[in-house]
Amino acid sequence: MSDKIFDIGIIGYGPVGATLSGLLSSLGLSVVVIDKNKGVSPTARAINTDSEQLRTFNFLNIATEVIANSRKLKKVHLAINVNDPSVSFDWYNKHLGLIPSDKVELGKGSGIYVALFCRCDLGNKLTDHHSFLLQSNLSSDLKSGFNHCAYEVVEVDDIFLGHEVLKDKSYRHEWGIGRHFAGSQIFDYWRSPYGHVHEHQTDGDLFDNKVKPGVIDISEAAGMQWGPDITATFGNSEGV
Ligand SMILES: [Fe+2]
Repeated sequence: MSDKIFDIGIIGYGPVGATLSGLLSSLGLSVVVIDKNKGVSPTARAINTDSEQLRTFNFLNIATEVIANSRKLKKVHLAINVNDPSVSFDWYNKHLGLIPSDKVELGKGSGIYVALFCRCDLGNKLTDHHSFLLQSNLSSDLKSGFNHCAYEVVEVDDIFLGHEVLKDKSYRHEWGIGRHFAGSQIFDYWRSPYGHVHEHQTDGDLFDNKVKPGVIDISEAAGMQWGPDITATFGNSEGV
């Protein structure tokens, strides 16, 4: 151990300690960081970076390197309950240019759609099967509003890792883990303390704007390629 005197001592060389030492050093302060482990950790100490963190990294002149060594996640999709998915779709198609990926039909050939999976029209560029889902409010006591929102994770490991973390923290599980038919995502649904449904999802289908909309039966939309049966409470009015 050196007997050198430092301006600042930081205990713990995780993401926060490392960033703080860099920021304090950039101010001209001498910093010593003490960690129980020797050398560089062989495992990840953080799994995500957001725009706020990138601003900090930019200050340290490492933002470009962090971005170059990171994988971008395509954020979210949102599902809302509406009176008539077809009528709402016409509005979103006209004003935001959303296009249909799969239409969920109430009985084969009925022409009545109880859900519409919509995606962005990015031309030849591939995009998520759905960024927006319009769902009938029949299952939510005719209450229109929030149905669920989904967050993409890197891979199936993260679905299971997130599942274990949320279970340990005693959050209420809603449905999963499974793989949808429509969109093919591996999914896991949880309830927030306010009753809202949040989904972790990964490995979904990617479409360009040439893929024609599919028509699927309601039993297929509520089903899954593998996983437990849909819960009776999924899509109810609790989180609307
Ligand atoms: Fe979803």
